[in-house]
Amino acid sequence: MNSLWCRRLACREIAGGTPAPQVYNRVRAVGHFARLNLEGAIDRVGVCERLMGEVKNFLRKMVGALGGRAVRKHIDGWLTAYADWRFDRRFGTETKPILELDQLDIDSENRDHGVHYQPTQTRPFNLLMSTLSLGKNATFVDLGSGMGRALMLASEYGFKRVVGVEYAKNLCEIANQNMAIYRRKTGSDAKIALLHLDAAKYAIQDSDTVFYLYNPFHDAVMRQVVENIHQSVLRAPRKVYIIYLNPLCRKVIEGHPGFEMIFEQLYHRSRFVVYSSIYLVRLQAEVDQLGRSRS
Ligand SMILES: C[S@@+](CC[C@H](N)C(=O)[O-])C[C@H]1O[C@@H](n2cnc3c(N)ncnc32)[C@H](O)[C@@H]1O
Repeated sequence: MNSLWCRRLACREIAGGTPAPQVYNRVRAVGHFARLNLEGAIDRVGVCERLMGEVKNFLRKMVGALGGRAVRKHIDGWLTAYADWRFDRRFGTETKPILELDQLDIDSENRDHGVHYQPTQTRPFNLLMSTLSLGKNATFVDLGSGMGRALMLASEYGFKRVVGVEYAKNLCEIANQNMAIYRRKTGSDAKIALLHLDAAKYAIQDSDTVFYLYNPFHDAVMRQVVENIHQSVLRAPRKVYIIYLNPLCRKVIEGHPGFEMIFEQLYHRSRFVVYSSIYLVRLQAEVDQLGRSRS
């Protein structure tokens, strides 16, 4: 307490008020109490501030993450649309238009089990292919190949052979023109074959290893095609892969004992699922081994 206060208290005592030491002690007690309270309050404010800081940091991170994801999604969308727009402009091909079933020239009993024409999106396909790297010595077969965009894209990944199977005559004609234009423009010498055929009737070759399906048909044809691939693996045991984009009939493959899912990924809006006959090949090897050890 400063000297001015002491002097004032002494004056009060002389004037007949409360004795100075008592007043002094009370004032000290009040001061002490006030200081404690103030320190407590400051402490509490400190704790609150720290807490608020933590909350703010947390919210900032959340907003950053959400914002980041949204921005990434937008950028992905733009890049995907740009790559599709650029594909036909770059090569002078025509793969972009979406054609409904009634715009397709189809002569097949499976006509109504088919899905309209829509091309694979370039960027998601390239992202998938660079992730899987299946190219070496493999044959890529697009069942329901439309105007041939997936065939041209696949031809860049070192496949030994690329085959397209399409049941719509007008799409086959466009695909043939596209291949010629593409070859001329890129100087590509990739072996690409186009078959005007119903996919259910395609005779699977022992050398066929990668089957590409962009949601081409519904359950009935899907069942037939999966069984054809399975029979081919039983005949000539080997690892085959089924790449299924927009897998609406995935239950058909997942319910089949010959295939197991080995990969699933969503690239922008394109969901790819990859199945393999690895399990069957392993089983076959074990049976062979058992046979050898018995004999
Ligand atoms: C979604 S488009 C995919 C086109 C192409 N695969 C691509 O990724 O660019 C499906 C294609 O499958 C064809 N399709 C549907 N059923 C078929 C069948 N049973 N046999 C052959 N092609 C079929 C349609 O005509 C259409 O061109």
